This record gives sequence, structure tokens and C-alpha cells, in this order.
Amino acid sequence: MKNILTAPFVVEMMKTTANMYRLGWDERNGGNISYMLDPAEVGEYLDTEKVIREIPIGFDAPSLVGKIFIVTGTGKYFKNVEDDPERNLGIIRIAEDGRTAELLWGYSDGGRFTSELPAHLMSHIARLSVDPENRVVMHSHPTHTLAMNYVHELDEKKLTHTLWEMCTECIVVFPDGVGVLPWMLCGTNSIGEATAEKMKEFRLVVWGMHGIYGAGRNMDEAFGLIETVEKAAEIYMLTAHLPRINTIKDEEMVELAEFFGVKYRKDFLNL
Ligand code: 13P
Ligand code: ZN
Repeated sequence: MKNILTAPFVVEMMKTTANMYRLGWDERNGGNISYMLDPAEVGEYLDTEKVIREIPIGFDAPSLVGKIFIVTGTGKYFKNVEDDPERNLGIIRIAEDGRTAELLWGYSDGGRFTSELPAHLMSHIARLSVDPENRVVMHSHPTHTLAMNYVHELDEKKLTHTLWEMCTECIVVFPDGVGVLPWMLCGTNSIGEATAEKMKEFRLVVWGMHGIYGAGRNMDEAFGLIETVEKAAEIYMLTAHLPRINTIKDEEMVELAEFFGVKYRKDFLNL
């Protein structure tokens, strides 16, 4: 058996959480990540017959039975993952009943997965239904994205349009736009269901006055989506109070989307 601490998926979680912490996106225990793993690869590092303990997930996820995820722990600081991955992360498998998580590794202090597991697993189900290669769901509290939530309308078309205007590459990176939920109580099945509904259409979902979710086929895609929104939101916050002299026009966004061959939300432009 290989050393789990050298497993590429553990190393990726360590590097990503440290990176997000240093970007100032994940204060204290803010943010969470879930990453669906290849059971054969996990088997190189763990005896997958050995279940440490069982933890109820609080909802039914029949389509995820047997799926294995590495998930950040609730109350755990992204800052600390690198120093003690076994305490701050866990590897879980969804049991036969579709309602229980079998802990295969981690949460070594008796902890458990993120309180946002409903939003994560329900988003995995939603993304897999439209993209069978989706693997990562990431939640974060990026500073400028959050700041923008207080001064910009929380409307999918308007928010996406403003973000697209802020950097030339935005429409190419997230041509599907950004879904938006109003402020909702976090950590609940209801916010999970609402997020998953949006995830059928968007890879990015803003949680009003809370943060953002990104989904992707790998860590880079999910991270890159959030990073690009955050960059655009930063430009917005640096310029929103100043007279606007120039802007990227809708016709130019069409030119970009067509040149790069991306399928974009035409209804989010004002043509
Ligand atoms: P957890 O510590 O349970 O992951 O919660 C952090 C968070 O960002 C809640 O939305
Ligand atoms: Zn949060």
C-alpha cells in the first residue's frame, strides 16, 4: 500500500486549500471542497474494505452509491490542511443505503465532513447529469465577489453581464454565465437543492451575500472559474465608483465567443 499522504488527490487538496487561504478567500473555516475520486486509485493507498465509522448524510443520494469523495472537514481551517491533512480532510464512500457516508480515512479528531455536504453532493449529482466528467465542487468566500454582492443587483443576467464586461476573457471562461441565489440559510438541504437546480445550467453559482460555488472536471477548472469571477469582481469594485469612460461592447463579446468557439448565453447580452 502506498502512503496516502503522497496520493496526488491529497496533495492537490493540500495545495488548493493553502492557495485559497493565501488569496484571502477562505477565512477561518470558510469554504469547502469535494472531489470525486477513482476507486481504483484510492485502492492503491487505502484498504477500501476498512470502514472507520459511518456518518449519516441527512438526505438520499441513491445515484452516488459507491462513489468516493475527498471532502474538507466542517469547522476546519483551510490554513491548516497542509500541516495536518488527516485531521482536516476525510475520504468518504456513499454506502449502499444512499444515506450514509463510510469514512475510509481522515477526520482523525472525530470530526466530520463540511456542513455544506448537501450542496456539494447535490451539485455533483446535478453536474454529472449534464457532464459525466465533472469531479470537483468548490465553495469559497472570495473578497471582491462578496463585496460586489452588496452593491450590484443579484440578478443572473445583470451580474453575469457586468462580470463579462470587466475582463476580455470572462465570456470565454464562463460563457454559461453565473447562477445566483438570494441570501439563504447555509448548511441546509434547502440551499443544497437550490444550488443543485442552478448547477444543471451553470458551473458557477453565487450564494447572495455569502460566497460562490464552482464546479469542474478537475481542480483547475473549478478554481479557475472562481478565480476569474473574483478577478472581474475586483475590477468592478475598483472602478464602480469612478466615471466609466470605456467598456467592452456586447458586439465585441459576441466576437470573442465566436472566435473561441464557446457556447454562450446569448440571452445574457443586450444585442
Ligand atoms: P464548514 O466549516 O462546515 O465547511 O462551513 C464553512 C462554510 O463556508 C459554510 O458555508
Ligand atoms: Zn460558506
